[in-house]
Amino acid sequence: MRQTMNVKLCSCILVVLLANIVWTRNIRPIYDQTSSYDWSFYSFECPQQCFCPPGFPSALYCDSRELKEIPIIPARIWYLYLQNNLIETIRGESFANATQLKWINLSNNKLTSNGIEKGVFARLKNLLYLFLEDNELEEVPAPLPASLEQLRLARNKITTIPGEVFSNLENLTMLDLHHNKLLDSTLSDATFQGLSNLIQLNIAQNSLTRMPPIVPPNVMQLFLDNNSIEAIPENYFNAMLKLLFLRLNNNKLTDEGLPAKVFNISSLLDLQLSNNELTKVPAIGIHLEHLHLDNNRINSINGTQICPIPVPGDHVYDMDLPRLRYLRLDGNEIKPPIPFDLMLCFRLLQAIVI
Ligand SMILES: *[C@@H]1O[C@H](CO)[C@@H](O)[C@H](O)[C@H]1NC(C)=O
Ligand SMILES: *[C@@H]1O[C@H](CO)[C@@H](O)[C@H](O)[C@H]1NC(C)=O
Ligand SMILES: *[C@@H]1O[C@H](CO)[C@@H](O)[C@H](O)[C@H]1NC(C)=O
Ligand SMILES: *[C@@H]1O[C@H](CO)[C@@H](O)[C@H](O)[C@H]1NC(C)=O
Ligand SMILES: *[C@@H]1O[C@H](CO)[C@@H](O)[C@H](O)[C@H]1NC(C)=O
Ligand SMILES: *[C@@H]1O[C@H](CO)[C@@H](O)[C@H](O)[C@H]1NC(C)=O
Repeated sequence: MRQTMNVKLCSCILVVLLANIVWTRNIRPIYDQTSSYDWSFYSFECPQQCFCPPGFPSALYCDSRELKEIPIIPARIWYLYLQNNLIETIRGESFANATQLKWINLSNNKLTSNGIEKGVFARLKNLLYLFLEDNELEEVPAPLPASLEQLRLARNKITTIPGEVFSNLENLTMLDLHHNKLLDSTLSDATFQGLSNLIQLNIAQNSLTRMPPIVPPNVMQLFLDNNSIEAIPENYFNAMLKLLFLRLNNNKLTDEGLPAKVFNISSLLDLQLSNNELTKVPAIGIHLEHLHLDNNRINSINGTQICPIPVPGDHVYDMDLPRLRYLRLDGNEIKPPIPFDLMLCFRLLQAIVI
């Protein structure tokens, strides 16, 4: 008896819900037809292709909707989600009133450099984050607003960086250009000039055979994996006093290409040189904590020679010891056992992979 009651009650609620849906579906086009202003009188203005969360009026969700064009963005929007669409072009009109925008995600669309109206981003004077990953751009868009803090351009087809496009970006902290088609000739001494607050520079998976000519001095993370870099110039890292992470995996570095003390960088904590053509362990600094040398051609290792300090005796303070904790040497031509002098030098080692 009770059970039947429940069933009846449930179907009543269901009917009411269904009726509601039908009602909302019908009512909206009526307002849209009269004029968009009428609709905004009842709610706030919202492009019909998008979702405007009622509790979060500064955000606009237009992602994953097969959009080919960007709608007119209302002036109140700060956060704009346009990722995972089929957008090919950006017209200035879309952003004419959206000058408060702080964050735009346009990743995974079909944007080409020709499709972007010149200057459309530069007019967004409050823009902090611009995400354009997984598009078909051939150039870094220019000009860009001086306010930018993050610019992500990974997985495009970029071969060209317009001169001085970065020169006014004093607040940019992260520049991601990985998986593009940058050549040595794309990068000049001036390319990254002006990026005085840049922390992360990612140029992995491009077509470089040389190190970038000049890297901004405050960079902490420099990623250059998956290029064809053969050598590093003498004193290359001398001006980079804050460098913490350096990745050069999957390049063509040889012993001859490395000046003797090039990796004796006092700030460096993490050095990755996997999949290169080294036959010797390069000299490292006393502060380095992680060293990846797997898949090279190293055939012997002499702990006394690679120790950044004279091999410490029995009585030594921990603080004076080399900081190395993790060492990868697998995929080389070294056979266990681990040389005893290596253990004497690097007493803080927690893991060594041979
Ligand atoms: C931007 O969109 C891409 C594609 O969906 C997503 O992977 C990424 O996490 C988004 N970025 C942010 C910061 O929301
Ligand atoms: C920008 O806002 C003004 C004033 O509200 C309005 O007249 C104009 O049509 C808007 N522009 C666009 C492109 O929506
Ligand atoms: C850079 O950031 C600082 C601190 O947030 C801010 O005062 C300054 O206006 C920003 N510069 C630009 C060009 O937006
Ligand atoms: C380098 O290339 C390998 C193989 O194509 C890929 O698995 C890896 O994710 C790439 N790494 C970077 C940092 O681009
Ligand atoms: C490494 O550099 C430091 C100063 O940064 C210096 O004291 C030390 O002698 C150098 N080590 C080698 C092996 O050149
Ligand atoms: C390692 O190098 C030191 C100093 O160059 C040398 O005295 C020692 O014999 C070498 N050790 C081995 C096992 O070759």
